[in-house]
Amino acid sequence: MPEEAPFVPPLDVKAQLEPHREAVKEAIANVLESGVYVLGPEVEAFETEFAAFCGAEHCVAVNSGTSALHLTMRLYDIGPGDEVIIPPYTFAATAWAPSYVGATPVFAEIDEATFCLDPKAVEKAITPKTKAVIAVHLYGHPADTEALGALCKKHGIALIEDAAQAHGARLGGQSAGTLGDAACFSFYPTKNLPACGEGGAVVTNDAALADRCRALRNHGSHRRYFHDEVGYNYRMEAVQGAVLRIHLKSLAQWNAARQRLARRYLETLKETPLLLPWEADGAESVYHLFTVRHPEAETLCEQLKKENIGFSRHYPRPMHLQPCYAELGHKEGDFPISEAASQQCINLPIFPTMTDEQQNRVVEAIRTFFAR
Ligand SMILES: Cc1ncc(COP(=O)(O)O)c(C=O)c1O
Repeated sequence: MPEEAPFVPPLDVKAQLEPHREAVKEAIANVLESGVYVLGPEVEAFETEFAAFCGAEHCVAVNSGTSALHLTMRLYDIGPGDEVIIPPYTFAATAWAPSYVGATPVFAEIDEATFCLDPKAVEKAITPKTKAVIAVHLYGHPADTEALGALCKKHGIALIEDAAQAHGARLGGQSAGTLGDAACFSFYPTKNLPACGEGGAVVTNDAALADRCRALRNHGSHRRYFHDEVGYNYRMEAVQGAVLRIHLKSLAQWNAARQRLARRYLETLKETPLLLPWEADGAESVYHLFTVRHPEAETLCEQLKKENIGFSRHYPRPMHLQPCYAELGHKEGDFPISEAASQQCINLPIFPTMTDEQQNRVVEAIRTFFAR
């Protein structure tokens, strides 16, 4: 029997840590020694450095991307009776944000080529109750925040970026984090900028907003035991700040590695019937994922499994069809582009330490599948 080819993982967080292992260990040991385990100088330094990376004025580090999204709803005083426009095809946390504050998530269809909100659909979804739009930079590709920003300005509503998958992505030369009024990042270990645990941030150029955000993440208090408003314990741990500072130094290089692999996929898969990712004019994706589409996605995945090639598939059910939002009364067919994406998308392996050899295996398997 021929020897099985080694597994090509969909991502490899441990391999990515390898060159930083000693520095990370030392940084963690320093935090342990310092006795400051929550917020503190490491987190503050990370906030300054990440804001600079984004080209933004302020960064408020929190304990997850989900918390960051929740905080932005509070920062724009969104609550019961308000509506927030989001794409149906996204991670659940985008929808949780309005739900957490008692507002209603209102879905607007995505653009077929980029998987991000279609500004024309957003315009149709705006009502007098709309308070904000959350533009998700899905899979690392920036949403059309130029058109969305103009729309939001016209209607006097906030544009919030869900940049959980898009650290360093650009549109018109500007980085995610500066493309709306406030941006939410996640540093979950699989993200382009990973923590060694949970982490997130709100990034903005608005000093007053950042100041209020700092209080809200810390029990609504600027001064200990004095509470201006009801807040949360959404503080970042010192260890995560210390690790993120080290990883941030490699982020540009990691993104460049992803982009190189993406270009290679685009070149080597162009003759196949797969629908490949596409970058809009002026957009620079950081390829958090390399997502391809095909009506026979299910069968192709079976083949990838047989060839010992990892992949992921999300999101298999768009948010408007999730049982938790049944009360919104949506049905199949309401957002056909999102629904087709949920059936047809496959995320091929892509991660900064992926070798050309590993990638060739993926390409070969796909070519063979379509040549059958
Ligand atoms: C698009 C999107 N939004 C929000 C989140 C939530 O981030 P976290 O997992 O850090 O809470 C994620 C991450 O999983 C995400 O991918």
